[in-house]
This record gives sequence, structure tokens and C-alpha cells, in this order.
Amino acid sequence: MATQVKTVGVVGCGLMGSGIAQICAEAGYQVIVREVAEGVLRKGLGRIESFLAKGVEKGKVTAERMKEVIGRLQGVTSLEALAPCDVVIEAVVENLDAKREVYQALDAICSPHALFASNTSSLSITEMAVVTKRADRFVGLHFFNPVPLMKLVEVVRSPLTSPEAFEAALSFAKSLGKSPIRAGDKTGFIVNRLLVPYLLDAIRAVEEGVGTTADIDEGMRLGCGHPMGPLTLLDFVGLDTTYYIANIMFEEFREKRFAPPPLLKRMVQAGLHGRKSGKGFYDYSQDPPRPVSGLV
Ligand code: CAA
Repeated sequence: MATQVKTVGVVGCGLMGSGIAQICAEAGYQVIVREVAEGVLRKGLGRIESFLAKGVEKGKVTAERMKEVIGRLQGVTSLEALAPCDVVIEAVVENLDAKREVYQALDAICSPHALFASNTSSLSITEMAVVTKRADRFVGLHFFNPVPLMKLVEVVRSPLTSPEAFEAALSFAKSLGKSPIRAGDKTGFIVNRLLVPYLLDAIRAVEEGVGTTADIDEGMRLGCGHPMGPLTLLDFVGLDTTYYIANIMFEEFREKRFAPPPLLKRMVQAGLHGRKSGKGFYDYSQDPPRPVSGLV
């Protein structure tokens, strides 16, 4: 990709999309971020502002820098507004049909030089790329939550991605201050292939009464130096999201280690989705959050 990247489009301004838009603006790019409606767009942009405001409070960023970053962000509700973008990163709901619909529309709107990237954590990059006429310029850019703090990006190539586009995607990820790793288009890529069975095993440990929620988490935090125990991390990622990813991985590989345990399914059915719903393995109505009893 000889073209210099000036403008980045982000489709979706949820938790991941807003984080991606923020780091692109922080890296100096003009960012056009699109949501389906004004309300969700305002909420997403509000999340960016409050993250930056906390950064100012912590002395990590100056108020001037915050203003500068916000000034590079433009929120829109139409896909057509992404026409001037050199790179478009999609972070909409983890649903193949929804993503393919976005790409088909964008393919007709954006210049042929624009690079398309999906932030999917579990869907096939190839299956999305083939609905466009630029499958050679289509990659995965898988960011981690919280995007502004996590250093990693998985850069994923499909069998159709050109070596030039892949290298351009790696350079782009580096320009965001991230450390990219290369991955092939295998469901779950590198991190979720290892992380998902670990998280599911932690749920199995709860089911089998190996230890309490608090002790399982403490074990991995203090015994292995993880920043969060697996059950806290499950609440953080979302139990519904993990259930969804595990099902896709199980469907693909048919291996027991990816099969969602019954407790996960029951918790999702019960609306215990973790932090986002206020309750999962922990109850977030109290500070500090308390382990939820009676799950098994
Ligand atoms: N602006 C600027 N800096 C900020 C900030 C802000 N608003 N908020 C926090 N920071 C900085 C802090 O100042 C701190 O910096 P220093 O280390 O220089 O002091 C650093 O970020 C960490 O912040 P905190 O001390 O407030 O928080 P913490 O130490 O408790 O860490 C965490 C929070 C980074 C989330 C950490 O708990 C962690 O790494 N957790 C694991 C997260 C994880 O595994 N994510 C991946 C999930 S899987 C996924 O996303 C993929 C998928 O497909 C499912």
C-alpha cells in the first residue's frame, strides 16, 4: 500500500469501536466513526471523552492534548461519510451477516485503495473478504479490551490477503503504538485459541467445586502473575460474548476444550453477563465487587 494513511474510518462506536477510534485519533489520524443512530454515537463518543478526562485527572495527558485528540474525531451516522477513508476498521456486532452487509456497502463507497479491516475475535476474515472486490486488501485487526491500554493487536491474513496489504496493516498497527503479532485466519486466531479454553476451564473448576470464585481468581493472580483472575476476566469480557465465541470455536474445531460448560450457558440464560449487566461471577452493585453465591 503506497498510499499514506491520513483518514481512518471506524464502523461501530461500542466498547471496542470507541477504543479503536480513540487510539487512531491519539496517533494523529483524522477519524470518522460511524454508529447507526445519534444516541449510540453520543454514548460512544462520551466514553472516549471520559477516558481522556480520567487520563487528564491521572496526569497521563494534558487538557490540550485531550482537546486535540477530540478535535480529530468526527462522529457520523451514515456509511457514505466514510468515503474519504484510507483504512476502515469495522467493529460492529459479532455477527457474520451484519459484518458482510457493512463490507458490501463500504466496498461501493470507499476508494479502491482503502484497506478494510475487521476487529472480529472469532469470525472468518476470509468469509467477510469475499463479499468485497478487494479481498486482497482485507485483513483482521483484532484489538483487546480495554483498547487504549492493551498493547496487542493480532493482524490476521486470509489466504487472499496480499503480502503488501498485510505489511501495510502491520505498519499501521505499529503507528498506533501497538505491538502487532501475525496470525492466520484460523478461528480464534492466537489469543482466543489459548484464552478461551483457559476461561472455560476456570468455569469447570467452579462447577466441580475445585475452589471458590475468589480463590480461583486469587490463585491465578498471585500464582501466575495475571492482572485479573479468570472469573473476573470473564465478567470483564462478558459471559454472553465468551459463550458466543466458545460456540463458534466449538463449531469449527469440534474439540471438547472449546465446548461451553453448562454453568456458562445457564448464567447467560439468567442474564448474568458480567460487569455489563451488573452481575456475573461477581456482584458489581458493591465496591469492591463480591462473589455471587449459589451459582452451582
Ligand atoms: N488514561 C490514561 N491512562 C490510564 C487511564 C486513562 N483513562 N486509565 C488507566 N490508565 C493507566 C494507568 O494510569 C496505569 O498506568 P501505569 O501502569 O503507568 O500506572 C495503567 O493504565 C493501568 O491502569 P489501572 O492501574 O487503573 O488499572 P489496573 O492496573 O487495574 O489495570 C487492566 C487494568 C489494564 C484492565 C488490567 O486489569 C488488565 O490488563 N486486565 C486484563 C485485561 C485483559 O486480559 N484483556 C483482554 C480481554 S480478551 C479480549 O479483549 C479479546 C477477546 O476477543 C475476548
